[in-house]
Amino acid sequence: MQKTEKFFIQTFGCQMNVYDGWRIATMLEHHGMVRTDNVSDADIIILNTCAVRAKATDKVFSALGRIRRAKKPSALFGIVGCVARESGADAFRRIPDLNFVLGPQSYHKLPDILQNPDTKLLNIDLGGLEKFDELPQMERSPRVAYIPIQEGCNHCCTYCIVPYTRGREISRAYNDVIRDTIHAAKTGAIEICFLGQNVNGYKYTDETGHTYRLSDLIRETAKIPEIMRIRFTSSYPTEMTDDLIEMFAIEPKLLPFLNMPIQSGSQNILTKMNRPYTLELYCDIINKLKIARPDIQISSDFIVGFPGETDQDFAETMRIAQKIKYINSYSFKYSPRPHTAAALMPNQVPEITKAERLAKLDSYLNDVQREFNESCIDKTLLCLLEGPDKTGKHLIYRTPYMQQCIVEHIENAPELTDIKITAANKASLRGKIIN
Ligand code: 5AD
Ligand code: SF4
Repeated sequence: MQKTEKFFIQTFGCQMNVYDGWRIATMLEHHGMVRTDNVSDADIIILNTCAVRAKATDKVFSALGRIRRAKKPSALFGIVGCVARESGADAFRRIPDLNFVLGPQSYHKLPDILQNPDTKLLNIDLGGLEKFDELPQMERSPRVAYIPIQEGCNHCCTYCIVPYTRGREISRAYNDVIRDTIHAAKTGAIEICFLGQNVNGYKYTDETGHTYRLSDLIRETAKIPEIMRIRFTSSYPTEMTDDLIEMFAIEPKLLPFLNMPIQSGSQNILTKMNRPYTLELYCDIINKLKIARPDIQISSDFIVGFPGETDQDFAETMRIAQKIKYINSYSFKYSPRPHTAAALMPNQVPEITKAERLAKLDSYLNDVQREFNESCIDKTLLCLLEGPDKTGKHLIYRTPYMQQCIVEHIENAPELTDIKITAANKASLRGKIIN
């Protein structure tokens, strides 16, 4: 007999975490529980956490403080994901009544706490990817199915906590990924987004010695009639091999949009970040992608204020942003993280300088986004339905470039449709469905 009946889960962080959150919810539903959005009503409370920047970790501990006051005295509460791995047993010291701390590769052990609610459950081992096989499948897939294909990262960028929290790179078996993709397609998916911290590094060798890459997954997925759009995130520049670039030329279902973070435009800083590619090589890859798919657009992540970053280094970041004209990009102030080399580097940049650089870069990236959005006016884009907006008067669609496109609400709206773009601003597009 289960003691608990309702669960509350809140997810922070990346798409991989969002996916993990769905799997955890499905697992608890299979244990006969129902989801609640009300913390004070829940019997088990799970924070699915992100540790990528100090702010993300701080958010989790302040949320735990609030939850502790709001929850029923008998409710179990704990953390899963990257902060669990980052903090380990220290989390119990900070919040003594916490019940469980489970790392990103051990959250399938969550039911153990339901069997033994009086013990404290700590498991932050990097145990491989058996969690994906031990967890129940989602019965219905969302329209956009996120399918993890690899986890962890071998690149060891000096700022990044991910190799510590998610471990060394492991690729899932090709057949398992294809099985999950077909299951998603048969249960409602129209778009597949392959996920991984280093997604284009996907490499799986089967018993016969045959090695599969991301290009093989894309080719096979494109054959599934229900699947109309394919994308993947996040890519490391030097893993963008020719077989994958060719997919953009030959596979129309692969969206003309690629997230390939550069992080910095300064060669000197890239070296200190342990991202050993040259700016020339990075730009060559983008040129090849544009030849393969002339309408392709690239998005990036940037870190400003990495240790030792000078005004000159930052000017080079601005220069590369001006050259590539990235869309849909994110920029962050460098945040020193435990278990990383950069946190111990000399010449940490003052907060005020980081803030000034961030404001300048953000303002430029926003201008480019607005220009790109405006350049879409009068074009017709194949868009996927996301759902109604908050007012219920409009529907939100996603363009192939992941822009939000707002249209009038109509009954029985098509899930995938051509939309003629009629207006644009920095944040979104407006358009009319073309029948
Ligand atoms: N400080 C700031 N940003 C970081 N990122 C990763 N680690 C850090 C850090 N220590 C950013 C990178 C990465 C994105 C997910 O988060 O830009 O691409
Ligand atoms: Fe955050 Fe990185 Fe963990 Fe995703 S993998 S939740 S971005 S720390």
